[in-house]
Amino acid sequence: MNAAPWRLGFRLATTTALVVAASGAPSGPPAFSNPPLLRSVSRVAGTVEVTLTAAPARLSLRPGVTTDVYAYNGSVPGPTLEAREGDRVIVHFQNKLPEPTTVHWHGIHLPVAQDGAPFSPVPAGGERDYVFTLARGSAGTYWYHPHTDMQTGPQVARGLFGAFIVRAADDPLPASLPEKVLILADNRLLPNGAIDLPDMHTPQGRLDDENGREGDLLFVNGQLLPTLTIRSGEVQRWRVINASGARVYRLAIPGQTFLHVGSDGGLFERPIEVKEIVVANSERVELLVRGTGAPGSSAKLQALPYDRYVPQTRPRNWNITRDLVSIQYSDDAPVRPAALAKTLRRIPALDASKATATRVFALTQGLINGKAMDMHRVDVTTRLGATEIWQIENLVGMDHPFHLHGFQFQVIDHNGVAEPFVSWKDAVNVPKHETVRLVVRFTDFPGRWMFHCHILSHEDMGMMGILEVKP
Ligand code: C2O
Ligand code: CU
Ligand code: CU
Repeated sequence: MNAAPWRLGFRLATTTALVVAASGAPSGPPAFSNPPLLRSVSRVAGTVEVTLTAAPARLSLRPGVTTDVYAYNGSVPGPTLEAREGDRVIVHFQNKLPEPTTVHWHGIHLPVAQDGAPFSPVPAGGERDYVFTLARGSAGTYWYHPHTDMQTGPQVARGLFGAFIVRAADDPLPASLPEKVLILADNRLLPNGAIDLPDMHTPQGRLDDENGREGDLLFVNGQLLPTLTIRSGEVQRWRVINASGARVYRLAIPGQTFLHVGSDGGLFERPIEVKEIVVANSERVELLVRGTGAPGSSAKLQALPYDRYVPQTRPRNWNITRDLVSIQYSDDAPVRPAALAKTLRRIPALDASKATATRVFALTQGLINGKAMDMHRVDVTTRLGATEIWQIENLVGMDHPFHLHGFQFQVIDHNGVAEPFVSWKDAVNVPKHETVRLVVRFTDFPGRWMFHCHILSHEDMGMMGILEVKP
């Protein structure tokens, strides 16, 4: 499949069990591990208080070379923030980067001033607190990343992204399920280890702008092809986050199915069994992976080909299947699978017949309704409490994942085909030449909110707009 030299290294390592690298340190396929946790320093119940620092760091992303990165608290991905519904979150943020940045809490329903949008950058050397309370019913998998004017793509590519898990007081899934966070973020390095961010006037730079920047290194929690162990019969809960600038993942474990139990804004009403699942940029999925393999056997989590491109700029290797995670069954005797509730939670459907407006958003390459973003222009105005239908029409031959800040919505239909079940989303892929309709209610938090394509180069080019929710 992929014969890049770094992969050959791993193949060797699997056949010889242990390889001693030039440095003398043992190396081999890394064991899967969740990103580090960000510990709260608060002793007050219901308060999560943390310090988050963005700073340059030097890490080894690819075995054998070191890379100058930007990191949150020294790691790529940054540490995982965990809190409960109803918690007050206080983040003391310090910007030790040589440039301005923000921290955007992707998908979280919070006051606009805490959103980390490009309107309020933290200057180089500056600091600020982000303070917000997590809404009831918002339990789910979120993430955080910079949202700097025209620099979101490069800052994320340099390593700034992390998971944010909001837990429910009464999670319907058994707490005994081993939980894994999988942050999918591809990258591209130069031979000397530097992050490959070509000038936009070079052919590769132009391609990165057009398609969004993809890389040949498919990192999962900053690791290449880690080995995740599972016991036969065990059920694992996976929270998958697509933090990639442009790559869309069509995930599958050949020989197994997933139980799809949740999306951006948390769990569904009922699990849905699927053979594969597409995770577009910034989307999250919660999956139950059931250890249906025999003791001692192995499997692979793969990224199957997904054609989101226009033919003229489709990358050469777009149609290869890539391995993301090795799944190794332990030799232990099978366990009895955990029993799962039939109904996970109730999700009240937003009533589209109450909509006071239906708005059309036409997506073209780099533009929404023919316009690039202007920080001083409001594109859409609505009122607090309004329910609206947003019709997102992709007029071009490339997929564009559409994201709205601050408010979770429900998808009504794709090209007129009704969504089979209700779920909360803050991003939805709009495939080439398709139309997606969603319904959203602006329950609270007046202010100016962004909506945009989450292919980061498109976002940085201004494929964004501003929604003003008036009190
Ligand atoms: Cu992931 Cu405007 O955000
Ligand atoms: Cu966002
Ligand atoms: Cu786009």
